[in-house]
Amino acid sequence: MSNNEIKVILSEIKYPNLEKNIIELSLVDEITLKDNILNIELQIVNTEAFEILSNAIKNLDILKQRFSTINIINKVQPPKKSMNYGSTQNPNNRAPYAKNIIAVSSGKGGVGKSTVAANIAVSLAQDGFKVGILDADVYGPNIPRMLGVDGESLQWNDQDKIIPSINFGVKIMSVGLTTPSSDTPLVWRSSVAISALIQFLEDVEWGELDYLIIDMPPGTGDVQLTMAQELRLTCAVLVTTPQMAAIDDVSRAIMMFKDVGVPICGLVENMSYFITPDTKQRYDIFGSGTGAKLSVAYGINFLGEIPLSMDIRENCDGGKPPVVLKDDIIRGYYKDITNKILKR
Ligand SMILES: Nc1ncnc2c1ncn2[C@@H]1O[C@H](COP(=O)(O)OP(=O)(O)O)[C@@H](O)[C@H]1O
Ligand SMILES: [Mg+2]
Repeated sequence: MSNNEIKVILSEIKYPNLEKNIIELSLVDEITLKDNILNIELQIVNTEAFEILSNAIKNLDILKQRFSTINIINKVQPPKKSMNYGSTQNPNNRAPYAKNIIAVSSGKGGVGKSTVAANIAVSLAQDGFKVGILDADVYGPNIPRMLGVDGESLQWNDQDKIIPSINFGVKIMSVGLTTPSSDTPLVWRSSVAISALIQFLEDVEWGELDYLIIDMPPGTGDVQLTMAQELRLTCAVLVTTPQMAAIDDVSRAIMMFKDVGVPICGLVENMSYFITPDTKQRYDIFGSGTGAKLSVAYGINFLGEIPLSMDIRENCDGGKPPVVLKDDIIRGYYKDITNKILKR
């Protein structure tokens, strides 16, 4: 039997769910014959399809009669990363390049997680650390706007790694950088969202980092659990506003991190109060002091209060994290929180 005869035989085998056979699809790379041994090298990316096709080849009677051994090798190496999810007791280490990984989380949306995450990241970079921020809020990616890189799109380097955007000395990765415009909604099942986040952890050229800050989506769901399973989180910073609805939700987040064994670095109370610019009168719009009380109740560190401030909102919308402003008071809130985190 010659190589060409074998190719003719192999052309009976169709790729699963396709009308084309493996020869016309050029999936057969090399055929070598030696005595009663036949070696066939295939090039098939889909591992499931490889299994089906190699069984089909091995079961061809005409080959079975002629050869005592049929070896089929896939020349395409399966992707090196396993999608075996870690457990919270023994998490995977998908970001070995980061010395510290801090997750910024809350129970609720809109309480200021992204604002706090972005400002901690920039503040650490101002202190001379190598910092990256991963926007893990796949369905509400706000980090590109807050750090002034919205409108940028992804680039790849020669090793096929994604080059993160950089601003204020922080490397930035967000699904918002992969969509054509900021109003493009992502309609992804959570398994797809999680695969994207794992790709951002593994396939982005982060370089060596002192701190990787993860801006979490709200709640206690899939992403939080996955991050606790896939990363050796150094700690979590929790953000809440003072009203009871937010406090209830952040309590659940505290319990979740305790359950999965992630240390809690502390709690930030955002939008704590409002000082009118003209009369300097203080109003506790959402109540006050609940964050500090909650910290005592759960035995966690209180990292500080940030008032509701037009400057904070305007600058965040304009892509300027308040920590880069000249205003010492506003900068001070975030610097203070960062210093407390560093002390931990
Ligand atoms: N202390 C603050 N004062 C005024 N506006 C704030 C403050 N903190 C956050 N914001 C604004 O509130 C909105 C929600 O904040 P964000 O950080 O996106 O919340 P989250 O990430 O928890 O959903 C943003 O527009 C942000 O600029
Ligand atoms: Mg957010």
